[in-house]
This record gives sequence, C-alpha cells and structure tokens, in this order.
Amino acid sequence: MVILKLPDEIEKLRTSNLIVAEILGELRGRVRPGVTTGELNSFCEELSRKKRVKPAFKGYKGYPFALCTSVNGEVVHGMPSDRPLISGDILSLDFGVNYKGFYGDAAITVPVGVVSDEASRLLKVTEAGLHDAIRQARAGNRLGDISAAVQEPVESAGFSIVRDFVGHGIGRSLHEDPQIPNYGVRGRGIELKPGMVLAIEPMVNEGSYEVQVLPDGWTVVTTDGKLSAHFEHTVAVTENGPDILSRIQ
Ligand code: MF3
Ligand code: CO
Repeated sequence: MVILKLPDEIEKLRTSNLIVAEILGELRGRVRPGVTTGELNSFCEELSRKKRVKPAFKGYKGYPFALCTSVNGEVVHGMPSDRPLISGDILSLDFGVNYKGFYGDAAITVPVGVVSDEASRLLKVTEAGLHDAIRQARAGNRLGDISAAVQEPVESAGFSIVRDFVGHGIGRSLHEDPQIPNYGVRGRGIELKPGMVLAIEPMVNEGSYEVQVLPDGWTVVTTDGKLSAHFEHTVAVTENGPDILSRIQ
C-alpha cells in the first residue's frame, strides 16, 4: 500500500532530505586520495550530531555504520574501513537520516583524484539516468515510466542496470511501497499520484548486472569485479511535477 503524504508532511520530508543533502555535500568535499572511508563515516556521525539528526542506516537490520561507502566494484552497502582511498577510485556515499520522525535518503558517487574516462562516463550516465527518471515522476504517469526512463539511456551507453536492488517509497519509514526497479516498461505499473514520495536510486554496472553479497552479509559487489555507480534522490510527486527534496544546494 502506497502512503500518500499531505503538503505539510512533504515539507517535513524536505527538511530531513535537505539535511541529508547538506551532509553529503560536506562529505564530498572531504573525498581525496589518502582519506579512509572510516574517517568519512566518523565525519558523517559528527555532522549528524551537530544537526541533531539520527543516521537512519545505523542499526537498520543491524547495519553498524551511519554511512554506506561503496568503492569501485562495490555496488551498495559497502562498509567504512581503514583502507585509504587512492586516485582513480570511485566512491559511492549513501546516507539517510531520521529527523522528527521523517526520513531522508540520498546517494552520490564521486571520483577520487583523477579517474579513467570510462569511470567518469559511468558516473555521468548514471546521474543523467537518475534525472531522466525523476522527470517522469509526475501525476498520471506510471511507475514503469520512471523505470524505463533510467534503463534506456544506461543500456544505450553500454552499461547495465542492477536488478537485485531497487528504489522505494519513503516517509515515516525508510522503506515504504512501492518498490522502484530501475528497469521496466513504459505505461506499466501503478499510477503516480500527488503525495507520493519516492527514493529513486539507480545502481549501474560497467559490465554485467550480476551482483553478489560478500560474506560480511552487507557489501554488494559486481560479480565480474567491474565498476558500479549509484545515485539516489528522494522526490515528491506534486500537482506541479517532480520536486527533488534531497537536492544539494
Ligand atoms: N539507500 C539504501 C536503501 O534505501 C541504503 C540502505 S543501507 C542500510 O536501502 F544499511 F540501511 F540497509
Ligand atoms: Co534508498
């Protein structure tokens, strides 16, 4: 069942998502060769304390950190560690908060130092695909319009869409209905209505879409070891079209 949000609830979700966006923006500014993902997680915890928000992922199904840091062939749910980043890495930062009962959730993938042309093309195509998907988040469209809008340009660029993980509704829970696959058929699926708030999060692989979970129970990696990128925004469907609540200012 999809929970529709009233305008005042959307404003509360905007507040939570703006805090997520601000913290991701600050973290992005700290990404450079030599920094460890553990240090980024500590900084994230410190910023969360300062802004009086509760990191949403910490403790979620036992996940032990505030931040997910997925490097190179790690797709999502990578765990912060004391391994320093090196130039040429790509790093996905996925972060969520709960503020006054409402969740925010967003992710970015950033280059570390100088990255290959192929890596930088992967980041551009994935982020552009997310924005194509967001443009379809309007009342009267169907969920399949969002899914197809991200799938088509990504596959045309020669990359693949991860199947095993999807986006989600968000509100007073981190994960609500509907599930939002990043592949699908235009015109299919539920009709989008004003008041839906959707976390759209394409995960795009350089090679095959196949992924597996490491023995740590969390880290999702590409089976072929090639790169993966992940971008996520929380978006409200309004009478006036899509409203990106997690936009980095
Ligand atoms: N953005 C991801 C999601 O919506 C992050 C979840 S990480 C977890 O599922 F640790 F909370 F699972
Ligand atoms: Co999410």
